[in-house]
Amino acid sequence: MLGHRPYLLVVVLIAATLPYRTLGQRAETYCFTDDPDPYIKFGTKTAYTLANGEFTHEDLVPAGCEARQAWHLVRHGTRYPSEDDIAVFLVLLPTLQDAILLAHQDGQGELCEGDLKLLADWSLGDLNVSWANVLTSQGHLELEGLATRYKEAIPLLLDQPFTNESFKFRHTATQRTEASARSYAQGLFGSDVYMPSPIDPDPLLKFYKVCNDYVTEVADNPEATIESQLYQEGEKMATVVDNVSLRLGIPLGFEEIEVLYDACRYYKAWDPTAAAAWCVAFTSDDLKVMEYWEDLYYYYTNGYAYPINYEMACPPVQDLIQHFSFCSSINSRSSSSSSNNNNSTSEVVESGEGPSGVFYFTHVDALVPVMTRLGLYKDPEPLTHDHEDPDRLWRSSSHGIFATNLAFTLSSCGADEWWVSLAMSEQVVALGGCASPLGCTWEEFMATYGFLEQCDLDAICNNAST
Ligand SMILES: *[C@@H]1O[C@H](CO)[C@@H](O)[C@H](O)[C@H]1NC(C)=O
Ligand SMILES: *[C@@H]1O[C@H](CO)[C@@H](O)[C@H](O)[C@H]1NC(C)=O
Repeated sequence: MLGHRPYLLVVVLIAATLPYRTLGQRAETYCFTDDPDPYIKFGTKTAYTLANGEFTHEDLVPAGCEARQAWHLVRHGTRYPSEDDIAVFLVLLPTLQDAILLAHQDGQGELCEGDLKLLADWSLGDLNVSWANVLTSQGHLELEGLATRYKEAIPLLLDQPFTNESFKFRHTATQRTEASARSYAQGLFGSDVYMPSPIDPDPLLKFYKVCNDYVTEVADNPEATIESQLYQEGEKMATVVDNVSLRLGIPLGFEEIEVLYDACRYYKAWDPTAAAAWCVAFTSDDLKVMEYWEDLYYYYTNGYAYPINYEMACPPVQDLIQHFSFCSSINSRSSSSSSNNNNSTSEVVESGEGPSGVFYFTHVDALVPVMTRLGLYKDPEPLTHDHEDPDRLWRSSSHGIFATNLAFTLSSCGADEWWVSLAMSEQVVALGGCASPLGCTWEEFMATYGFLEQCDLDAICNNAST
């Protein structure tokens, strides 16, 4: 099963007998179980509850206005690893656990008593490959809580009985997005609701799967990940590998460090209130290196590094604009706002003013490009392997977490006055070109983002040319 990683076992087997460098007396060694505030920014595998904000009515709807439509794009919640990653966990983690405990008995390693005990008490439990990519119980809670809080913030709009016309759900063709959508429905309605069968691949929610230029320039292009590769091969990562090896008392390579990092952050996400045993391997400095390594990867494959990464992300924004335009134009009974909207899709046009809520459930590869399309988290300088800004805006630990979500709320503020707010994982985000940090007038919003109502994905992606 682990045929592609034979070196892992070899390394562990020789570890116990290896004459190991004796440690000098260290002034202070890191003790995870004594750390009252361990580092928990775990990139795209950060549990939602460790990084989210909390919706408030005031944030979403200005005084004197009334919420009229909600449009919510949501990443699935915390999941189990892929089949391959679970298979590696099953073989490697118990072996490393034994080797680390043995090494400490032999006087190697630096783990404090509490950390050793936490690691000794760890076990795989029932983890098995049939759980691959499945939404965890924590993931269900994340989505249910998210929906509940959105409803509490705008009850007039969302605290209504379900009908097919008033609430639109859509998820991709995976268990984790469907289960996320159904947990969200539980949070809103206390019951399951009708959801259409997924489209596979979905050009709205998985545009990155139907975009030729993205596939050739980025997804299938090894050059696109060269910066994270260079960082991986650089000095800082070498220090992490040395530090972790020294701390655990066994010599490890980057591949094992990567598995341990996943073990640390997945277990933390599955049970965010508990101490995750495998996190004993890392200090906060080590974790910041791992975090930047992943941030680089997403910056180049989903972020500002390649224009196609955000150019292809217009379908969801177009859908948002069409819904909000329709809702506001029907209500305004006025031809002034966006009456030139002659290419709206038939899906948008519903009875009355359109649905109260539009809820989409997809993946990080859709969420992050949409954020990039909106101009969010853009640093003045590009991220590279040798330019690491600790205060950078681009941070998957904040905008790429499990259940990361973009909640747009359209409010009516009197005669022909409309307001758009955006909350990212329940924290209000200032949108480009808008005077207020809390949101935009409809005119401001359209002045900045209105051009995205035109979105010809086949042309953008050169899809016809194959
Ligand atoms: C919603 O639409 C589906 C598919 O057309 C239908 O099967 C279902 O009965 C509808 N549900 C309600 C509550 O109208
Ligand atoms: C590695 O260990 C050294 C010495 O304890 C420490 O100063 C440093 O912060 C650790 N981590 C990294 C990434 O350098």
